[in-house]
Amino acid sequence: MGTRPHWRDGLLREPPVRARQHTAKGSYRVTVHGEARAGSTRAMRLALPAFTPLEDSLFLTLCARALDNRSPHPVLADAAADAIVRELDYDYGQFHLNTNLIVTVAQRAKKLDEVASRFLDRHRHAIGLDLGAGLDTRIVRIAPPSTADWYDIDFPAVISARERLIPGAPNAHSVGADLTGADWLEAVPADRPAVIVADGLTAFLTLDEMVSVLNRLISHLPSGEIAFNSYTRFAIWAAKHSHGTRSVADLVRSPGFDDPRVPEGWNPKLKLVREILLCREPEVAEFPTTVRLYNRLLALNTALSRKGTIVLHYRF
Ligand SMILES: C[S@@+](CC[C@H](N)C(=O)[O-])C[C@H]1O[C@@H](n2cnc3c(N)ncnc32)[C@H](O)[C@@H]1O
Repeated sequence: MGTRPHWRDGLLREPPVRARQHTAKGSYRVTVHGEARAGSTRAMRLALPAFTPLEDSLFLTLCARALDNRSPHPVLADAAADAIVRELDYDYGQFHLNTNLIVTVAQRAKKLDEVASRFLDRHRHAIGLDLGAGLDTRIVRIAPPSTADWYDIDFPAVISARERLIPGAPNAHSVGADLTGADWLEAVPADRPAVIVADGLTAFLTLDEMVSVLNRLISHLPSGEIAFNSYTRFAIWAAKHSHGTRSVADLVRSPGFDDPRVPEGWNPKLKLVREILLCREPEVAEFPTTVRLYNRLLALNTALSRKGTIVLHYRF
């Protein structure tokens, strides 16, 4: 990780511009190469090599968190994501990020941060794993205790980009690998409890791949917790057909599942801790009006709530 930048010395030197553009419908508009101020396009300072479409999916969520940071009432307030978005030479104009998608991505990241932080507060010598970490700055947000070790796992090209863009820490490790492969867990200690998060990953895995990744993690690690945003069959349908997720629609391979207890049948050690229905969580009170009302409607009953975003939290 040697030559990673440090926030104070580099990427965060420029304070985030707290402005957003509204379209007539009250959505955010993402302009090409960051925000256009007075009609101008900012000069970008860093270009990354081309990613595969699957790797490229990380920009959708990264950009959503950056835009959340620019809103008057951020859900996640991820200034580090915002700084990366400003730094990169990437065509964000392809995304059509609406307010609902932006707050949803920010809120689910916050819920996964909470699961990870609480676990590491209770198990200060544990390890944390972020599966399909992309360019997520979770490690900056949760700042794991120095006695814990954190592992970000993604394809090698993404991990190289992370190492250029995200500041290192003595207890931060990255593993460049295909998660569906057999060997990458050799880089992960097998004798410490672990908290595992996966944000925006599982839609890109077949159910067989997901089951096999989970089973390998559970047999490698002594105990722990795992949390991921899950996709119901409706959410998979919506991801394939919504305007905002058009850039990843063809990459979706999971059929989704509706019952949060389904994974308990995949491995007898896996026990559901909580199905977190995001429309019922406190952050909704701060959402922009239309999105808040939509979430209040979903919250009326469980079946409707499951049409929204869900984070599933298990122990093993
Ligand atoms: C939508 S992005 C989410 C990235 C990050 N978690 C976030 O919230 O910004 C999905 C990520 O999963 C990674 N990914 C998908 N399938 C993978 C696999 N089989 N092995 C490793 N990484 C994978 C992609 O490279 C990408 O970075």
